[in-house]
Amino acid sequence: MSEPLGVETLREAIALSRTRGAGSAALIGRRIEHHRSIDSTNDRARQLAASGEPEGCVVVADEQTKGRGRSLRHWHSAPDLGLYMTVILRPDAPAERAPIFGLLAAVATASALGRVCRGEVRIKWPNDLVVADDSRGKRKLAGILAEARASDRLRDLVIGIGVNVNHTAADFPEEIAGRATSLRIVRGCPLDRNLVAAEILTALDDWYTLWRRQGERPILDAFRLAGIDLEGRRVRVTGGPEPWEGTTAGLAEDGALRVTPLGGSHPVVVRYGEVLRVEET
Ligand code: BTN
Repeated sequence: MSEPLGVETLREAIALSRTRGAGSAALIGRRIEHHRSIDSTNDRARQLAASGEPEGCVVVADEQTKGRGRSLRHWHSAPDLGLYMTVILRPDAPAERAPIFGLLAAVATASALGRVCRGEVRIKWPNDLVVADDSRGKRKLAGILAEARASDRLRDLVIGIGVNVNHTAADFPEEIAGRATSLRIVRGCPLDRNLVAAEILTALDDWYTLWRRQGERPILDAFRLAGIDLEGRRVRVTGGPEPWEGTTAGLAEDGALRVTPLGGSHPVVVRYGEVLRVEET
């Protein structure tokens, strides 16, 4: 049994993480809502955002009964093992800039988890976090689901973060067991989820402050450094009417991925769907 999550423990962990880090921001986590069990922290945060909750609120749960991933997938959310949390933001930005905040969350979470697991956490576009797990290659450690409400400008944005924290290999369901890992597996010991959450929330706060001061450039630069397979990688793109194959050709300025179709000469901009690596033989 891992350390229980709790609002006060999490607050203390955030304060500690702030004193150690570079940032002095204190927006994210100014209100924390903790649930023992909930359908989805993203759904709860969306309700709160729609009823006027100020930005910076965090919803965190020990268990989700309907945890959601990207592309309508289920997010395995077993009680007490993982971290399931969602942050409400209200950036002053045009609607079409929404994807940048998913990248911001990926960059912040990758840096936080890298410190926690003392490994190199990389980002698979747009926001899967992967880490080398011994000889088993790169495996998924965390995922991010950013959802926005917008008219011509963003009204609110919820950023859901799911991290595999204290899972052993036997805790993953069969369908993801070959692709998933956890902080515990990488570090070799169980971790306090309050400390992991605090590390991520502080990093998010710092990156969000940086975006307000300097705009998107530092996020795109950091994403290019932490991203994998952004260039020259044969991939299969799914999610549109027909899957197709091509070669990655870098990150566009709005955070989309450029992919040049096989036999084509110009990249196509991919904004949604899945970009799956094709293993060349
Ligand atoms: C993905 O990799 O497909 C994204 C997974 C996002 C999961 C998190 S867990 C907390 C939040 N609540 C949800 O229902 N989903 C996100």
